[in-house]
Amino acid sequence: MRHYLQFKDLRAEEYAYLFDRAAIIKRRFKNYEKYQPLTDRTLAMIFEKASTRTRVSFEAGMYQMGGSVVHLTTGDSQLGRAEPIEDSARVISRMVDLVMIRTFEQTKIERFAAHSRVPVINGLTNEYHPCQILADLFTFIEQRGMDRRGAIDMDCLKGRVVAWVGDGNNMANTWLQAAEILGFTVHVSTPSGYEIDPAVAGIQNRDCYKVFKDPRQACAGADLVTTDVWTSMGYEAENETRRTAFADWCVDADMMARAKPDALFMHCLPAHRGEEVAAEVIDGPQSVVWDEAENRMHVQKALMEYLLLGRIGG
Ligand code: CP
Ligand code: NVA
Repeated sequence: MRHYLQFKDLRAEEYAYLFDRAAIIKRRFKNYEKYQPLTDRTLAMIFEKASTRTRVSFEAGMYQMGGSVVHLTTGDSQLGRAEPIEDSARVISRMVDLVMIRTFEQTKIERFAAHSRVPVINGLTNEYHPCQILADLFTFIEQRGMDRRGAIDMDCLKGRVVAWVGDGNNMANTWLQAAEILGFTVHVSTPSGYEIDPAVAGIQNRDCYKVFKDPRQACAGADLVTTDVWTSMGYEAENETRRTAFADWCVDADMMARAKPDALFMHCLPAHRGEEVAAEVIDGPQSVVWDEAENRMHVQKALMEYLLLGRIGG
């Protein structure tokens, strides 16, 4: 049994397989072809933080593959009344086939996984957001490494530069793990006090990223420019301090102009126009944010299939 708690829980060749499957699964969805390998399987989704994309993509994806879902939140389950996470894991995992959790500390999902009889997927923690980076990489591959028949070239990621402009948060940490595994470099620019901690990011090789004080320099020559909210869920008390600290970390047309002419713009969403990104960028021609959001569903269907059925053909 495998869990997906961090991006580094899978190897490069498993990502190559997953992206292939995601392309096949997406094509079937677009062609209205029924594909239900998870008939009679149940996914439990536990949300301790808000969500739009994660909930809809997992829920719709599971139904499309023939399965069903159970949706739990802190407020409407015993999780909010101090039932130990270990006991919740023991009980829930006896009744379902797969669990997705969005919560606060990574240790919480690790404790759940340690007592679960079924695979557990990280739907976002304070430290990581692996399903989002899975979708982001698939979106990049679709744009830069997929031929007309849908065949994928994983080498399209090698040597690329991803510019991360903003908070040293769960998304940034996960980008670093992806860079280490798949062979690209992240140019990171965060305001002072919001830097990435490589120990928290969980990377061994410090060469997979470079730090820039000036976000404009981080964008120079980038193949992809990406950012995220200034204040992540769980940090709302810091909102006002962050608004001041992050004022110069808004991805605008000038930053995009310093990247490669064909650079893409990504944002995991939800976005705040005029804060971390200018409207002309997120709504402009280099932005692929809507594909990125849609691809959450296709890659997660491939991930759920892999965790429950292993490698399959067809
Ligand atoms: N990107 C993302 O995870 O979105 P939600 O918070 O809406 O799930
Ligand atoms: N970094 C953000 C991502 C939201 C999808 C957060 O954790 O709130």
